[in-house]
Amino acid sequence: MLSSFCLKREKVEQLLLEPTINHAIVCDDLKKFYPGRDGNPGKFAVKELFLAVPRGECFGMLGPNGAGKTSFISMMIGLTKPTSGAAYVQGLDIRSHMDAIYTSMGVCPQHDLLWESLTGREHLLFYGRLKNLKGSALTQAVEESLKNLNLFHGGVADKKAGKYSGGMKRRLSVAISLIGDPKVVYMDEPSTGLDPASRKCLWNVIRLAKRDRAIILT
Ligand SMILES: Nc1ncnc2c1ncn2[C@@H]1O[C@H](COP(=O)(O)OP(=O)(O)O)[C@@H](O)[C@H]1O
Ligand SMILES: [Mg+2]
Repeated sequence: MLSSFCLKREKVEQLLLEPTINHAIVCDDLKKFYPGRDGNPGKFAVKELFLAVPRGECFGMLGPNGAGKTSFISMMIGLTKPTSGAAYVQGLDIRSHMDAIYTSMGVCPQHDLLWESLTGREHLLFYGRLKNLKGSALTQAVEESLKNLNLFHGGVADKKAGKYSGGMKRRLSVAISLIGDPKVVYMDEPSTGLDPASRKCLWNVIRLAKRDRAIILT
């Protein structure tokens, strides 16, 4: 269970008195409770989570399997609602302003969500368009992204994702999460299944990417 994560209640409550826009993310006593089923007791996956992540920072969330990392990300990206507590993304409340939050958010889910029959390039073009990129800005963003994640050479970009190795799929998922200049990016175990070289390439990309955004990494 993710709990009392990195800040004291008093510190977050102090922060909330100031405009929350200074922080990419503020969580105030965030909780997620899953009710029991078939006679099994319910459980908290996230409890008393207090967190403040400034812009330009990469926040790493560690915890064993079942600690509540994915549950936390699901709430922050609007897939599930918190049981109680509040969270703000660039000052916007996730309980009431998810629509606005979506426009500047990037997500690399724990399990790759890719179309087997689309190439890496086609994925990035698709997601780039969703982020309102067009024309030469779109082409340029896609090329850059393919190069940064080492999916450019050897015709990899134009191979169908269904033919990709696990590591290539993971790198494509990371590329998708960063396209279109999102201000807050969530990466749920992005390095799973990557070999050491790919891992190094991933950390470089994250280091460059975090300059003007916040990255939450598990
Ligand atoms: N939809 C759900 N319904 C009930 N329990 C869930 C659900 N999703 C996750 N859990 C439980 O919540 C706990 C945290 O899971 P999760 O957030 O996936 O952790 P992590 O990503 O850190 O491995 C686990 O015990 C898991 O079984
Ligand atoms: Mg998880």
